[in-house]
Amino acid sequence: MALSLTSLTHCLPPFLSILGLFLITCPTLIPFAKAKEDFALSSSTLKLPKTQAQKLIRQLNLFPEHEINISPGHPTTLSESRIVEKRFRLPYLGNSGATLEDFGHHAGYYRLPHSKDARMFYFFFESRNYKRDPVVIWLTGGPGCSSELALFYENGPFHIANNMSLIWNDFGWDKVSNLIYVDQPIGTGFSYTSDESDIRNNEENVSNDLYDFMQAFLKEHPQYAKNDFYITGESYAGHYIPAFASRVQQGNKGKEGTHINLKGIAIGNGLTNPEIQYQAYTQYALDMKLITQSDYNNLSPLVLKCEQAIKLCGADGGNSCYSAFIVCHNLFSSILKITGNINYYDIRKKCETDLCYDFSNMESFLNKKSVRDALGVGDIEFVSCSSYVYQAMITDWMRNLEVGIPALVEDGIKVLVYAGEYDLICNWLGNSRWVHAMEWSGQKDFGAAPTTPFTVDGVEAGLHKNHGPLTFLKVYNAGHMVPMDQPKASLIMIQNWMQGKFRLTELKNGLSPQ
Ligand SMILES: *[C@@H]1O[C@H](CO)[C@@H](O)[C@H](O)[C@H]1NC(C)=O
Ligand SMILES: *[C@@H]1O[C@H](CO)[C@@H](O)[C@H](O)[C@H]1NC(C)=O
Repeated sequence: MALSLTSLTHCLPPFLSILGLFLITCPTLIPFAKAKEDFALSSSTLKLPKTQAQKLIRQLNLFPEHEINISPGHPTTLSESRIVEKRFRLPYLGNSGATLEDFGHHAGYYRLPHSKDARMFYFFFESRNYKRDPVVIWLTGGPGCSSELALFYENGPFHIANNMSLIWNDFGWDKVSNLIYVDQPIGTGFSYTSDESDIRNNEENVSNDLYDFMQAFLKEHPQYAKNDFYITGESYAGHYIPAFASRVQQGNKGKEGTHINLKGIAIGNGLTNPEIQYQAYTQYALDMKLITQSDYNNLSPLVLKCEQAIKLCGADGGNSCYSAFIVCHNLFSSILKITGNINYYDIRKKCETDLCYDFSNMESFLNKKSVRDALGVGDIEFVSCSSYVYQAMITDWMRNLEVGIPALVEDGIKVLVYAGEYDLICNWLGNSRWVHAMEWSGQKDFGAAPTTPFTVDGVEAGLHKNHGPLTFLKVYNAGHMVPMDQPKASLIMIQNWMQGKFRLTELKNGLSPQ
């Protein structure tokens, strides 16, 4: 079970404990003085990250009982850093016509070596197609939301029906890959620690954990070490993915551990270069007629302030990044004030009474005793989204993660940046802009490359542009969660891209369930 965090706040002066922020590093905690001078933070802005995190979770109709998974122990007590994995068969799974035993579905824990006591939880689904298919890892954003959100609502092998039974997903990415979902950063989902100093604050720590996990995974499953490896994910994973990929390249080049056969990264509606992406909000909103030209003009001083704050974060780090979060949040919320109760993950929709999506079945499902027993999670509770992890990552938010990508593309690592066209928060325009602005040897050619239609079943499903290892794709009729809104297009996208033939072709072996 998870513990309440009250015991962690002892070293904070009372006025700061409302923050619930950085509770771990007490000595370096009080540095808000500078931020206060610069931006005259009020107590309400000091509370903002927490309010934001709670709002995010509520909007998804999730009610995690705890803010973070801090737990004293687990039945599978691991002292050494290794994987403990269990092949599972979930109750509630309807018959697909094949015998379920044929599918290698696994869940496991890994004790992170560079931690006091952290255990990373993951799901691993062997490909429904072919063992030599690439290994694909998926990372959900938040920061602080469990990757099981994607497993059950986007590209996993099955979805949850309203009556809590599982239904096979004909377009699960496990049809073309050996698919891994990890709960990270630590404290999210079923991942937990007994020591709060294991809570991560930056991409260096996040990517080290992911690298260590991948090393252990390949040690446990050496037969997959030669397969191609792809890092994928969504939203805040626009930060995690480039950091993790750079960490893998560093490990490969330094001959650390097992070589990880990284072939590409795919970022879906990600936040990667905040300076460019925050500036694109008003243009996207204007183009989509969410705001008027005069709104646009009125907002431009805020855009400028946000841009300057992000620059300062890039230069100084630390508190200036906290300030940038506050200042730029003000820009975003000013747009939302104009647009009303719009669903900013999908502007075609409204958030009814604050509810933008309903992912509550996932919580109910994963908290069932029979499911927990099958997964071997003992009495660890499921924290669907951790507001604490969100807050702990707050000075990471405005960092520019694009900086590591040129080195990846120069190494021939494929980079796919895709975006559903109706997402506001990580909109396609901002993503397209940073992809075009990125400096690398193919920048000019990429800029000059033609935009071509991406078709599915002979119907145009998006627009794409490619040069060398770099591809940008705008997906039609989709919001923030492309695999949820366009499951078939997303499966064809990932397969064609991995096979290096991102063209108008369909899957060879069709898309019927196997
Ligand atoms: C649960 O719902 C699914 C999808 O609506 C349906 O196919 C299935 O038969 C239902 N199962 C039970 C036990 O009612
Ligand atoms: C965490 O990040 C800090 C600061 O970047 C670094 O000094 C430390 O070594 C990192 N620890 C791990 C386990 O990655």
